[in-house]
Amino acid sequence: MLPSQRALFDIPADICYLNAASFSPLPLAVQEAGRTGVARKGRPWELDPAFAGQIHERTRRAAAALINADPQDIALVSSVAYGVATAGKLVTIPRGHRVLVLHEDHSSPVLEWMTRGQAAGFTIETVPQPEDGDWTTAVLAAIERPGAPPLALASISSIHWSDGGALDLDRIATALRAQGALLLLDATHGVGVMHMDVRKLDPDFLMFPTYKWVLGPYGRAFLYVAKRHQDGIPLEQTGYGRRSISAEQTPYMKDTAYTAGARRFDMAERDHFISMEMAAVGMEMMAGWGHAAIRERLAMLTHRLAEALGNIGDVRVPDPKLRAPHILSLGFRRGLPEGLTDRLAAERVYVAPRLGRIRISPHVYNDENDIERFASVFRRLTS
Ligand SMILES: Cc1ncc(COP(=O)(O)O)c(C=O)c1O
Repeated sequence: MLPSQRALFDIPADICYLNAASFSPLPLAVQEAGRTGVARKGRPWELDPAFAGQIHERTRRAAAALINADPQDIALVSSVAYGVATAGKLVTIPRGHRVLVLHEDHSSPVLEWMTRGQAAGFTIETVPQPEDGDWTTAVLAAIERPGAPPLALASISSIHWSDGGALDLDRIATALRAQGALLLLDATHGVGVMHMDVRKLDPDFLMFPTYKWVLGPYGRAFLYVAKRHQDGIPLEQTGYGRRSISAEQTPYMKDTAYTAGARRFDMAERDHFISMEMAAVGMEMMAGWGHAAIRERLAMLTHRLAEALGNIGDVRVPDPKLRAPHILSLGFRRGLPEGLTDRLAAERVYVAPRLGRIRISPHVYNDENDIERFASVFRRLTS
């Protein structure tokens, strides 16, 4: 099994950080890339003019590798919301159709469609949170609901951010295809840990940020656009999204036709080579360990936690078959005890309160000691 990688991070011994799903610590190598990048920007005259372009392509390749995509199909964006807004501009939801979202999914894959629905004449259908935690069955039932308006799109997370429920993407994608509906996947909590293969799954759009599971900075995210949607208009109009616009030529705008592939959807000011390189280093580290080895380690840690917590007070531990292997969201029959996460943090134990649950999300720097520490502090604070 992959051993703990704590030595590659700057985590003091008394810190029990189990909150990667909110934001992960940066590995030392990623921090170093950031410092090097800042120093480069401090002396721009020393910078090779080709450098920023090399970093874009390295980062694009690193992102593509995590989801088995062709780098040509990846755009460099700033956030999941940016990717969803791009998709919102590329597809037309026909009047009278419906868009599926998950109950209390993160706002980024939801709000774009809510904002557009009324003027465009389509409805948003929210898949209710399943009592038994089985999101896949709930989504399949909504896709196939008899008598429902035609389905245009499901805009959903691959793993629910608050309860940690994992969706069976293959079954959902197949059911959507049978209805002629599109799939937009917010894979924030999946990429890097779960097996993700866009060539097999064939979503229409998929996006993920770097600041959580793939160990990078804020402000960097990636958008996969299926080739069938690549001829649309980007969110922002940039010179490098066009075939020939260059400050070094006259006429400046020699050819304003869009470039081929998903590069036309790259955000403006993508030359932020400091955070771009940090993102590349984090994703390359993830690929180096491999998603299967990471998943095995994190599944072992969350399993230990579930075993240790299952019989404490009114705690509800989700069914391991229905949750993501790397996230354990604890429910409470009588409600989340007031101030519990703050009291845990006062003991230097860090987890997140999410919609009435406590979300525990270990990463490669965690070990069995963190699990024991969490369980014993939790037991003391809740007894
Ligand atoms: C499921 C999910 N999607 C997206 C995000 C972040 O979205 P954005 O990059 O638009 O800020 C989060 C952050 O918590 C999330 O949990």
